[in-house]
Amino acid sequence: MNYRETMNVNEKGHLQIGGVDCVDLVAKYSTPLYVMDEDYIRGVVRAFRNTVANTYGHGNVAYASKAFSCKAIYKIMKEEDANIDVVSAGELYTAISAGFDPAKAYFHGNNKLVSELEYAISNGVGVIVVDNLEEVDIIDEICARYSRKQKVLIRTNPGVEAHTHTFIQTAKVDSKFGFSIASGDALEVINKIKKSDNVYFRGLHCHIGSQIFDKSAFALAVEVMTDFIATLKQQGVEVEELNLGGGFGVHYSGDDPKFNIKEYCEYVELLTDTLNDCVAKKHISKPYFMIEPGRSIVGEAGVTLYSVGAIKDIKGIRKYLAIDGGMTDNIRPALYDAKYEAVIANKADKAGEEVVTIAGKCCESGDVIIKDICLPKAQRGDIIAVFTTGAYNYSMSSNYNRNFVPPVVFVSGGKSKYAVKPQTFEDLVRNDVEEDYQ
Ligand code: LLP
Repeated sequence: MNYRETMNVNEKGHLQIGGVDCVDLVAKYSTPLYVMDEDYIRGVVRAFRNTVANTYGHGNVAYASKAFSCKAIYKIMKEEDANIDVVSAGELYTAISAGFDPAKAYFHGNNKLVSELEYAISNGVGVIVVDNLEEVDIIDEICARYSRKQKVLIRTNPGVEAHTHTFIQTAKVDSKFGFSIASGDALEVINKIKKSDNVYFRGLHCHIGSQIFDKSAFALAVEVMTDFIATLKQQGVEVEELNLGGGFGVHYSGDDPKFNIKEYCEYVELLTDTLNDCVAKKHISKPYFMIEPGRSIVGEAGVTLYSVGAIKDIKGIRKYLAIDGGMTDNIRPALYDAKYEAVIANKADKAGEEVVTIAGKCCESGDVIIKDICLPKAQRGDIIAVFTTGAYNYSMSSNYNRNFVPPVVFVSGGKSKYAVKPQTFEDLVRNDVEEDYQ
């Protein structure tokens, strides 16, 4: 089971996170409930930042906030001196309203709306990661109105495509993201930027995929990117910054490797070591180094707590434990066939006795969180704790079936607090109107 540094089974046999007994959390906040371990999040960000400082010396970590976005997380990133990656005006607004300095934000997106670019530029966003040619003109025009110069990176496509355990290198690029290096598209947009008045070319970005375990894919991406930096240098174009995206894989279930925080840093070290080598080998200036991890910072910090409700035993076929949440708070099993591990939090010291399927409460057969998991015998009211739900769960949640999105609670040092309050019926109808046709 995926018990981490800050998680254990206490003397009552209950699952405990950040020093707080999950049974007490449920008594206080009810279920379903997202629980986020603040010390774990801070621990990963600190360790990543220290690794960059110690092995490269010139760079930082930008937390990819699409993984989990709410005011509390931006406040943590501010305190940890990290940068952030945002992908909408909404994420940037949330960060700004939490007091995060927009100058430390990277604004991504394959189709940033003109209104979003206007919002970002007028609020002093640090870097925009350009992802299409027209964007250069739009940024230039907005900057002229605000008398600003805007730093940009180019989102490139290095032709390295990584999947969980393997990667392929391909010159063919079929992706809605990025400019292909091989086809010359990346060079074309850089030349366009160089001619613009208000757009300042700062460097390159790439992101080769998500949930990647094959570290050699990252090393290859660094090789391809530094080759391109060397080519640009020959053409008189200086690359001041290289952002290598995110994508470090985390443990969800089964054979997924289990990393402690120190082992996660090996991803970062491999990137910085390879970059140091390439800089020396290819005689290029040392770019400012940036990575953009999301999942590895918050994924394993999260646990979702549910209560067991209806139990349906279809003799000889399957036993369903129905919980009070489901695809509305975790769409990943239905969307990606993602696998998860769980325990019964109030029986965490008991051995597994029977194979069951944990089903959600939505009106959809595919609303199954875990198929075939061996658990101690469960009863109505038991608390199911599903692990590694910190990334892309709350941020991809919905009100499907007009279910509530669960609240988010942070735990640290034996204490807990709301980061996101529970929704109410009133929230569900807040934007509903009864208008006459006009
Ligand atoms: N940077 C860029 C440009 C990205 O597109 C992403 C993720 C990241 C950084 C962060 O990647 P991470 O370190 O979290 O792997 N909803 C999917 C994941 C989509 C990831 C999209 N981009 C899921 O639930 O698995």
